[in-house]
Amino acid sequence: MSVLRLTIHVLSGLLLTACLFLRPAQGQLPEQDVLALPSYPIPQPDNPGFTLPATALNTTAVPYESHGGPGPNDTWLQHTLNAALLTLLRQAVEAAHGQPLLNRGEAHVTLITPPEYHNVLAPAGVTLADLDDIARAAQVQAAPIQALCVGRQRLVVTASPQPKDGGETTTTMYAYNLIVRSPTWTRIRWQVWRRFIGLGGEPSLFDPEANWPHVTLGFSHRDLFLQDGVFKGINSCWRAITVVE
Ligand SMILES: *[C@@H]1O[C@H](CO)[C@@H](O)[C@H](O)[C@H]1NC(C)=O
Ligand SMILES: *[C@@H]1O[C@H](CO)[C@@H](O)[C@H](O)[C@H]1NC(C)=O
Repeated sequence: MSVLRLTIHVLSGLLLTACLFLRPAQGQLPEQDVLALPSYPIPQPDNPGFTLPATALNTTAVPYESHGGPGPNDTWLQHTLNAALLTLLRQAVEAAHGQPLLNRGEAHVTLITPPEYHNVLAPAGVTLADLDDIARAAQVQAAPIQALCVGRQRLVVTASPQPKDGGETTTTMYAYNLIVRSPTWTRIRWQVWRRFIGLGGEPSLFDPEANWPHVTLGFSHRDLFLQDGVFKGINSCWRAITVVE
């Protein structure tokens, strides 16, 4: 081996070691560093951000809702919010978007998604009753909710050429949401994972940390999902949110 190749090997080894030591320790939240930056999300002169009453994040008195059904998209686990308390925020986001947005007339944070349940948990024997028991025992409706920002996801879809004009048409689809966080939700997902592996589920198929909690506020065409390739984390923060007492 030449001296040059050896040097490259040693240097790349050192670089890898440095990366391993420099990455955030497990359990430490790198987003706190990002959010601590005064200019994140980037302030817009025409719209500095939105406000939300603190009461919208206190869901202690909102009843727990169980969601189950026979179809592949019918079963999930959620933390229910009072949609009426998010109406003003939704309208402000709609005004900033500049076009009417669609919404489902309700507000929730999905804690276990339909694909997670249908594709991974249910085949191992985890039931909706298991999810409900875990969530109720964790007092999910009393979980403290921290609002991080208003997120926006965009997806450009190109439709196949129409015979009429022969040209490709592109549509930009938008989804808006309140990006939120709660340690209770992470604990619930780890408890679901324990139940899953207790039933013989393969641990690597369900990651409690692979979760992007958000409250959908509206969307232009349809809601956008992980399956569309969008991530609703703080990576998608669009405007700041200020919680007011
Ligand atoms: C949340 O609301 C409940 C009543 O629904 C109240 O008892 C409790 O003090 C509130 N919690 C906070 C942190 O304001
Ligand atoms: C389930 O949801 C996905 C994503 O929205 C959708 O593509 C699929 O068609 C749905 N399946 C059924 C049976 O509704």
